[in-house]
Order: sequence, then C-alpha cells, then structure tokens
Amino acid sequence: PPAPPCLLVLFGATGDLTRRLLMPALINMTRAGLLDEKFRILGIGIEPGDDAMLRERLASFHPEKGGEGDTERGAAWTQLSERIHYVQGDFTQDAIYERVKQEVGDGNAAFYLATPPALFAPIAAKLGAHGLTDEAKGFRRIAIEKPFGHDLQSARALNAALLESAAESQIYRIDHFLGKETVQNIMTARFANMMIEGLWSSDKIDHVQITAAETVGIGTRGAFYDVTGALRDMVPNHLFQLLAMIAMEPPTSFDAESIRTEKGKVLKAIRHYSVEEARDNGVRGQFTAGTAEGAAVPAYTETPHVAADSRTETYVALKLLVDTWRWAGVPFYLRTGKLLAARDTEIVVTFKPVPFAQFASIPAEHRPPPNRLVIQVQPNEGLSMQISIKRPGLVVEAVPVALDFRYAAMFDISGLTGYETLLYDLFVGDQTLFQRADGIEAGWAAVQPFLDAWADAPAPDPYAPGSSGPEAADALLARDGRQWCPVGAARCP
Ligand code: BG6
Repeated sequence: PPAPPCLLVLFGATGDLTRRLLMPALINMTRAGLLDEKFRILGIGIEPGDDAMLRERLASFHPEKGGEGDTERGAAWTQLSERIHYVQGDFTQDAIYERVKQEVGDGNAAFYLATPPALFAPIAAKLGAHGLTDEAKGFRRIAIEKPFGHDLQSARALNAALLESAAESQIYRIDHFLGKETVQNIMTARFANMMIEGLWSSDKIDHVQITAAETVGIGTRGAFYDVTGALRDMVPNHLFQLLAMIAMEPPTSFDAESIRTEKGKVLKAIRHYSVEEARDNGVRGQFTAGTAEGAAVPAYTETPHVAADSRTETYVALKLLVDTWRWAGVPFYLRTGKLLAARDTEIVVTFKPVPFAQFASIPAEHRPPPNRLVIQVQPNEGLSMQISIKRPGLVVEAVPVALDFRYAAMFDISGLTGYETLLYDLFVGDQTLFQRADGIEAGWAAVQPFLDAWADAPAPDPYAPGSSGPEAADALLARDGRQWCPVGAARCP
C-alpha cells in the first residue's frame, strides 16, 4: 500500500546523494505505487534557482536508455518531477525554516539531511526551535546518514544534540547496508531455518569472516577520505551491522525496538581491547601505485586532496571477540579495503570439523573440509552451503560441494538502490532498519581502542592495487591456524 502523504524536505537537494540514490529510489517507488498522491518533495539548497532548475538537475541523472523498463521509468519520472519544488536558502538562517513551516502546515513531514555532517546538529536545532519537530498535527521525522561522528566522543555529542530537538522515535539514522535485500535476509536466514539457527553457536562454529572488498579507489573523495580512513568509513557502521545480525540473539518479535535492542546488546558485547591488544589484533594497509583492472593507478598518497605523507589506511583487518555465552571463543575476522582484487561483500561462517572417528584411516587430503555457510551480500547475491559428499569412485574420499542459491535465478533485485525500503519505512514510521543511538555508540566504543592505538602509528602496511591486501592481514589469521577465503573466489578452500 502507498505510504501516508508526506512532504519530503530535502536539505542539500542539489547534492550527489539526492541525484545518485534518492531520485532513482523515488522513481522506483512511484512505479510500484508506494507514494501517496499528495506526496511532494521540497528541495532546499544554497544555489539560486527554481523548480525547473531542480527538476532538470535531478532528471539529468535519471537513466533513460529506451528499453521497456526505462520507458516505464520515464513515465514515473514525469509523474514524480511535477511534485518537486525548490526553495533557495541558507540552512543556518531562520528565514528558510519559516518558509518550510508554511509549506509543511499541519501535514506530515520528513526532513532528509543530505548535507555535510557538520550541519546535522545545527539543522536539527533550527527545526526544533521553529516548532518543526512538534508532532501535534502530523509526524515529523529527521533522516540522516553516516558519518555519525568520527569517534566515540563526537558520536555521543551528536546524539545528545539531536535528542535535544527531537525524540529518538523521530530520528532515522540511515545505514545504507540495511537497505540491501541480502542484508535484511540475514535475520530470515537465521530465524526461519532450524538447519542454520540450530547450529549457531560456539559449540559448532569455528569462526566468522566478514569481508567488504572494493575494486574502486578513492576517486574524487580524497578530502573526505583522508580524514576518515577505512576503519571509520566502513567498520563501526556497515560491517558492525552485518556482525550484529550474525551474532544477535533472536528478538522476541520483529518490531523495531526488539530488534534494535538485540543488536545493541551484541554490539555492546564486542570486547573492548586495551590499546596494546588493539595493536595486536588490527592490521592497516594503504595501497601503493600499480595497476588495477588493466589501468595504471597512482598511490593513495598521490590521490587528489590526499596529503603526500598521509598515514590514513585504505584497508583494515580486525580480529574481534564477542563476549557472550553464545560466542565465547569464536573469533570474528573483519576486513575491508579499496582497490582490492574483486568487489566482494560476504560473510563466511566456518563450522568446526567433524570428530573424524570413521575417517581416521583415510589419508588427510581425503578427509572432509569444514562446512561453511557463505552469505554473498554482493555482487552475485546469494547464499551457499558448503558441505561434503563422497566423490563417486572406489575409495572413500570426501569432496566439498555447494548447495547454492542465487537471487538472480529466482528474483529480480537488480534495479533497486536499497533506498526504496529505507524511504518507505521513513514514511510509514518503521525504524527497524535504522540505527538507534545506543547501537551507534556501542560501535564507536568497540573501535575506539583501534583509533587510539593508531593515532600516532607509523604508515600503514603497503599493498598493491588488485591484490587482496597487506600480508599482515594473512598473518593475523595464520597465527590462529586459519586463512581468509580468497577475495572474489567462488568458494573457500
Ligand atoms: C559508503 C562508504 O558508506 O559505503 C564508501 O563511504 C563505500 O567508501 C560504500 O564505497 C560501499 O557501499 P556499497 O553499497 O557499494 O557496498
């Protein structure tokens, strides 16, 4: 059913996020009939212009290639574009908020802050001061997207500032990973399947690997990236959301508070290392000059807007422990990096070996390798179970085979941006896929020892573009007698 009518007030309407992700998502939602007839968009930006300017700006990024789907998209765009309005103004000045107030009237409003993070708290304060977060007449919601602070202290300060102007129930902190079907599926895969959840603990699981490997470099984001780095950019947010869904206890219901409470609990249970332990359990890398996907790539330190002596990491690998009854002693190895061998976001759960009794007489190379469950978040989205069967033949030899499910074989999730669900939930008031303040702070608390350990650390370990990261990351697992599943490989050895 369509979401209730609402005015979507877009702060930063002329920016990149709006064009690249929000508009395509809203077009998909229009096609699917998910927006009310009275739904409207009020874009606000500093640039002079009118409705026509904004419509044209947003249209230029809308893909029209002439195929059947694209014609439909074109029709949806025509419908949507008529509802887009523009107001020029300065977010720090009161005048714009009075104007917004007139437009909102007694209706529902969602304020989407597609702005630099430094403006989140000031805009929220202005919205509060102008009575725009008062829900007496209609709902008033604020959506913001990471970064939520750059360390534990600043994250706490941001949450405190937001909560002065709005209630937690009005704040929608977006982590775009939660818009991905394959990420939302983690909970279903676990809690709808006894074959999975029944084995889901340290009794049966040896370790968990969470990888978000990217082939892209830093592009034009040097100024942002150089003060951020791979750890802050990916770990306390995206990778921890994956970890939380893998490690959380079953919620008593699927409502937003039960789920967010369980996720928060498990994030709080990630062991807080001392600075020495953090040094010992973390690896940082920075890409050198080289070639990736056939093209020459300059070193990170030669990227535009990056300091020539930058010590910012473009790769990070961590070994974490989750101190709960269920996960005692099971390491969670996390890694993410730019310019790696393949684009590959996946979770690999490796089970303990079978006791081997009846296999004892079989040569080691013919014994069964461990079972693995591979959740392929992207690309080639799917889920696969590696099990062992007897290789047909005269000798008993176990070979690993895969029970393999690929979304593409059954569903079409290709045209989706992930923002469709997130925007729909924003309009209907479902906070399940949004982060609560306690979860954000728990994430930062767990990475803070690494930030402290690396504050004055020497340069990160070099790695070549197109590789799978620095050697030290392999050593991190090798010292535990384990190894990473190769980046981009269809199966783990
Ligand atoms: C963003 C990071 O949050 O996530 C980027 O800032 C990263 O650096 C991106 O590339 C990865 O998202 P996705 O959806 O492409 O896996």
